[in-house]
Amino acid sequence: MTLRDQRDDQADVYQPAEDSQLLAEAACDRLGNAEERLVLEVGTGSGYVAGRIADETAARVVASDLNPHAVRQARAEGVETVRADLVSPFADEAFDAVAFNPPYLPTDPENEWDDWMERALSGGEDGRAVIDPFLARVGRVLAPDGVVYLLVSSLTGVDEVVERAGDEGFSAVAVADDSFPFETLTVLELVR
Ligand SMILES: C[S@@+](CC[C@H](N)C(=O)[O-])C[C@H]1O[C@@H](n2cnc3c(N)ncnc32)[C@H](O)[C@@H]1O
Repeated sequence: MTLRDQRDDQADVYQPAEDSQLLAEAACDRLGNAEERLVLEVGTGSGYVAGRIADETAARVVASDLNPHAVRQARAEGVETVRADLVSPFADEAFDAVAFNPPYLPTDPENEWDDWMERALSGGEDGRAVIDPFLARVGRVLAPDGVVYLLVSSLTGVDEVVERAGDEGFSAVAVADDSFPFETLTVLELVR
């Protein structure tokens, strides 16, 4: 890949921010150093969260992203990444843990713009357009005692996400949060 390709990729890829850090820290804290865990990061973007989990825990980490630029950037960072919609290509019960910092900003359909950064940020009108299908599908790829770390924002509606997770058979507990002037970010730990 040329330097120009790398710059083009970065412009189209969500770069690590406060939400990425909060998710990485919570997942690393909770996973600790238990061996032989296989972890999936969905929507890896730059590969930052997956890379931190691989570096700071004993887990083996793989990742997915819909955005081909993100797949290239994460691979360049050493993260084993596949281009995929959510968890679609992965085997049943394959993962001990799944982490996701989803697109979560509620977006007026009239203001949506159709590019990769919008896909990284926009959660549709209610902020949950990607979270809801994720919650419906993630259980299939989780080991029976597997766990999900899902970042949510007060802008998305934490209670609504917890309720939807409950409909999919998960109980949720908040394991980390951080407040900013316009939103509070929370990491939910979901188990069945
Ligand atoms: C808020 S960004 C988070 C990026 C990175 N994980 C981080 O925390 O810095 C959301 C990511 O999800 C990806 N994404 C959006 N919809 C997706 C889908 N249906 N399947 C897989 N990835 C998706 C976007 O391309 C983007 O990289």
